[in-house]
Amino acid sequence: MASTAAILALIILLLPPITLAGDLHGFRGTLTRVHDLSPGKFSEAARRDSQRIAFLSRATTNSSSSAVSFQALLANRDGGYNMNLSIGTPPLTFPLLADTGSDLIWTQCAPCTKCFQQPTPPFQPGSSSTFSKLPCTSSFCQSVPSSARACNATVCVYSNYTYGSGYTAGYLATETLRVGDDAASSSFRDVVFGCSTVNGMDNLTSGIAGLGRGNLSLVSQLGVRRFSYCLRSDAEAGESPILFGSLAKLTDGNVQSTPLLKNPAVPLAPFYYVNLTGITVGSTDLPVTSSTFGFEQTGPGGGTIVDSGTTLTLLAKDGYAMVKQAFLSQMANNLTAVNGTRFGYDLCFDTGGSGGDFPVPKLVLRFEGGAEYAVPTYFAAADVDSQGRVTVACLTMLPATDDQPITIIGNVMQMNMHLLYDLDREMFSFAPADCAKV
Ligand SMILES: *[C@@H]1O[C@H](CO)[C@@H](O)[C@H](O)[C@H]1NC(C)=O
Ligand SMILES: *[C@@H]1O[C@H](CO)[C@@H](O)[C@H](O)[C@H]1NC(C)=O
Ligand SMILES: *[C@@H]1O[C@H](CO)[C@@H](O)[C@H](O)[C@H]1NC(C)=O
Ligand SMILES: *[C@@H]1O[C@H](CO)[C@@H](O)[C@H](O)[C@H]1NC(C)=O
Ligand SMILES: *[C@@H]1O[C@H](CO)[C@@H](O)[C@H](O)[C@H]1NC(C)=O
Ligand SMILES: *[C@@H]1O[C@H](CO)[C@@H](O)[C@H](O)[C@H]1NC(C)=O
Ligand SMILES: *[C@@H]1O[C@H](CO)[C@@H](O)[C@H](O)[C@H]1NC(C)=O
Ligand SMILES: *[C@@H]1O[C@H](CO)[C@@H](O)[C@H](O)[C@H]1NC(C)=O
Ligand SMILES: *[C@@H]1O[C@H](CO)[C@@H](O)[C@H](O)[C@H]1NC(C)=O
Repeated sequence: MASTAAILALIILLLPPITLAGDLHGFRGTLTRVHDLSPGKFSEAARRDSQRIAFLSRATTNSSSSAVSFQALLANRDGGYNMNLSIGTPPLTFPLLADTGSDLIWTQCAPCTKCFQQPTPPFQPGSSSTFSKLPCTSSFCQSVPSSARACNATVCVYSNYTYGSGYTAGYLATETLRVGDDAASSSFRDVVFGCSTVNGMDNLTSGIAGLGRGNLSLVSQLGVRRFSYCLRSDAEAGESPILFGSLAKLTDGNVQSTPLLKNPAVPLAPFYYVNLTGITVGSTDLPVTSSTFGFEQTGPGGGTIVDSGTTLTLLAKDGYAMVKQAFLSQMANNLTAVNGTRFGYDLCFDTGGSGGDFPVPKLVLRFEGGAEYAVPTYFAAADVDSQGRVTVACLTMLPATDDQPITIIGNVMQMNMHLLYDLDREMFSFAPADCAKV
């Protein structure tokens, strides 16, 4: 007995300090853009977005049961950002897509029945001393959408966790998770995550880290109550900061805030809804009303979400029409408008070989409470000539469809802004920032 105690004591000394979820402290991770944003790349991202959007909207529109499926599309790698997450003891690092539009954290586990190629070998449960399968009696198991939950006698199985372009299947487990490099401040015990063994989807990275509002998300499980990130647009420069807990704060003078909302029709949705009350293009205030981007009166659709996992911005149809008309009328005198469909966009302009240097009207989104979001990035190069000069540039926005009316502020329009999600205050705040210095 004594020797066992001594060994235990030794093990405890060797392990990094473990943080209990809910502690009021801060830690930092890094995000890396999966693909660069060179001309042409956006088309692929947009194609994937359209699948994702179709799925988000479907999930939002179908809320009859209490455990609706709200997962977002995973195959969005061209426009997404990866976050390194270390799993297990000893810890192994996996790049997972950081997604504020979904909840589940998952990676591929060996032995795989059907897994996609990933940058690192799949997680090996048998090689980690802290791995446990999650029994069905756990309340976390109830947070798996009922359509995907397939408990058996020993473990909480998810049989068909669907995304817009595929599905993942496996079982839930608990592990020690670490965000970022500072083991002392960011290791968490018994975090529930998905061990996927069957995947019906393209290679992504190594899985997904859900940062949504639901019980299974990383944010909920770590109990951090607030997080912030600042996405860099320059591909080569690499790392963008993501901050959790007490480190997540905006210090810049020009901080704007608006309430985070929940859609009453879909209270379990992972989404961070905000109230988009107006848009200004150049000097024109568009005639936006509370129904343009608001929740549907007679259904679970509509509303506006901030989503790190979607690339382009989707605007509810009527709102998009106003924005498009405003850009057309203010730019068409100077540049020729071209149909952007073949580039994966809608509204594009022939820049006449002027390179990236062409005048565009300012774009400001207005939110409840008067917060003004002067969008830093809303045009992208879609085509270049043989000298690498931009010949076609496009608005990074697309219309939502009638049956999928949700408005999504995608990650291009989030770039070069420091965004704070504060769950205690139920506020979404932002400030223009040089993300390299956050
Ligand atoms: C993520 O982890 C990998 C493997 O440990 C490492 O090579 C890479 O630099 C890390 N990336 C970031 C952004 O920390
Ligand atoms: C919602 O789901 C139910 C059952 O899963 C299905 O019968 C119904 O057609 C769906 N509704 C919509 C609008 O997709
Ligand atoms: C998946 O990864 C493998 C190996 O890296 C690669 O050969 C294949 O083309 C990739 N598939 C897709 C759809 O990207
Ligand atoms: C989420 O967790 C809370 C607190 O643990 C619990 O009351 C609630 O029922 C859970 N929600 C779901 C959908 O499982
Ligand atoms: C339950 O599911 C897990 C994971 O798929 C599997 O390994 C295990 O054998 C199953 N147990 C029973 C009793 O069916
Ligand atoms: C998984 O669910 C989706 C949508 O709910 C369905 O279309 C698909 O057939 C299911 N796949 C399997 C293997 O059950
Ligand atoms: C753009 O082109 C696509 C495909 O050629 C076509 O379906 C669409 O109607 C065009 N859009 C406009 C506004 O002309
Ligand atoms: C477009 O050109 C007109 C004059 O031709 C000019 O007054 C206007 O400022 C230009 N628009 C932009 C956005 O530069
Ligand atoms: C959004 O803000 C507008 C203007 O303040 C208000 O009329 C509307 O009720 C708000 N919508 C929601 C869903 O809170």
